Amino acid sequence: MSFLDLALRRRSTRSFAAELVERERIERCLEAARLAPSVGNGQPWRFVVVDDPKLRSAVAAAAINEILGINRFVSRAPVLVAVVMEPARAYVRIGGALKGKDYRSFDIGMAVMQFCLQAEEEGLGSCIIGWFDERKVRRLLGVPRGRRVPLLVALGRPADEVLLVLDATVGQNSVNQARAFGEALPLTGIVLAKMDGTARGGVIVTVKDELGLPIKFVGTGEKPDRLAPFDAQRFAASLFADDAPG
Ligand SMILES: Cc1cc2nc3c(=O)[nH]c(=O)nc-3n(C[C@H](O)[C@H](O)[C@H](O)COP(=O)(O)O)c2cc1C
Repeated sequence: MSFLDLALRRRSTRSFAAELVERERIERCLEAARLAPSVGNGQPWRFVVVDDPKLRSAVAAAAINEILGINRFVSRAPVLVAVVMEPARAYVRIGGALKGKDYRSFDIGMAVMQFCLQAEEEGLGSCIIGWFDERKVRRLLGVPRGRRVPLLVALGRPADEVLLVLDATVGQNSVNQARAFGEALPLTGIVLAKMDGTARGGVIVTVKDELGLPIKFVGTGEKPDRLAPFDAQRFAASLFADDAPG
């Protein structure tokens, strides 16, 4: 696969199959992360792989906020990886102080990205998690005092598709409907039906923005051949064409 194909294919995965991930695949992701550039080649990170079920569910719980509905999917990830920020080398610290930057965040961002791209190459899904109770995670993993844990990565085989069919003419109600289904099922995408003359494209933006779910197919008629894979670029272009929908 070309690099551009890999970059195009990678998406945050928020729905995982309940399957263990082989150690060798995780190790290749770690190797890709290790090869990432870092300031002064300091590699100021440590990746802690959490796949013990009990510990993993405790770490997952630290990322979930039930009231705000944030990160619930993390509890279904078969592997969680915590990234511990290690102290920078003295000259990197001095350089950072002179320039007013903590270079370690850049380094970790790049290493995590290489980890996620290798995961994609392995047929695995990943999602970077920045919203979690860091103190809890540090305590659970026995991270030494003074070390930060800036990110977690959820990793696993993506679940088979669970698609919800929405009626594009219903507007905001569709979004409420999808939200309710999403609480009960690990949805992986949306099929928008009735995207014909009566529906404006706006609902597509609303669904993506509010639910964070990709639109997989769009239906413009009642026959199977009117169901087409959704192509965002072509759709956006069609909005400005003379025969724009709606
Ligand atoms: C530093 C960082 C922190 C993130 N934290 C979270 C998070 O806590 N929960 C989540 O669901 N997604 C999180 N994401 C994923 C982003 O929402 C996602 O990458 C973005 O919406 C783009 O979507 P894509 O990854 O599918 O291309 C995070 C991404 C980054 C880079």
